Amino acid sequence: MLELRLVSTKYGQIPMLRRVSLFVSEGEAVCILGANGAGKTTLLKTIIGMVKPEEGEVLYNGARIDLMSTPKIIQTGIAVVPEREGLFPKMSVEENLILGAYYEKDRNLVKQRLEEAYTIFPRLKERYRQRAGTLSGGERKMLGIARALLSNPKVLLMDEPSLGLAPAIVNEVFNVINDIKRNRQIAILVVEQNAHKALTVAERGYVLQKGEVVLEGTTQELEENDIIKHSYLKV
Ligand SMILES: Nc1ncnc2c1ncn2[C@@H]1O[C@H](COP(=O)(O)OP(=O)(O)O)[C@@H](O)[C@H]1O
Ligand SMILES: [Mg+2]
Repeated sequence: MLELRLVSTKYGQIPMLRRVSLFVSEGEAVCILGANGAGKTTLLKTIIGMVKPEEGEVLYNGARIDLMSTPKIIQTGIAVVPEREGLFPKMSVEENLILGAYYEKDRNLVKQRLEEAYTIFPRLKERYRQRAGTLSGGERKMLGIARALLSNPKVLLMDEPSLGLAPAIVNEVFNVINDIKRNRQIAILVVEQNAHKALTVAERGYVLQKGEVVLEGTTQELEENDIIKHSYLKV
């Protein structure tokens, strides 16, 4: 469904991603594990066209998307939950959610998706008029995910959903990701430093080191791998 073929990117003269190849199939959850600075965010930015590959191709349902603009890519059905949620702090929870359906002109459909989001995230319903900037870290993360769902994506990209959250909240967030996976035919690509958590939602994964995929496999293969055990599953 989504595929990167030998993608390399540069920031100025500095190479970042190096010949990265990976794929995510329909209904599948895949994780990208990697330390700080490994290139995880760059990878997601490349998929949504915010960083253009120097070499290689990004394909979505067999068609190249790496030459398309970010809005066009988003309209093909790819949504992203950025690391810092990218919310509008002065706007209400509901206004933020509705912006997630920016490209949907059918108001009834937007309403329906809003109701669906409130079913998954009852706390957001209770706070629908509250300014996004006054939400707790966990609530903001939930709002970021809910907003991405408002576009009714076929592929959901998530940039470190556990980042900066207390362990109990991280569990809540990952329960929600698991629910989304169970209840929708949606491909999920989750980028994480928290390998423990990422491996609870993913069927497969890739390890990114200094912009290169150094390891890939099923969740079980990764969990049993010595490098993963020592470098990513220490805690
Ligand atoms: N816009 C940019 N210009 C130059 N270098 C960047 C830019 N964005 C990220 N980098 C560098 O690229 C590397 C990878 O960054 P990033 O993809 O954010 O890693 P990760 O998300 O895995 O922590 C880092 O060394 C970072 O400093
Ligand atoms: Mg990052």
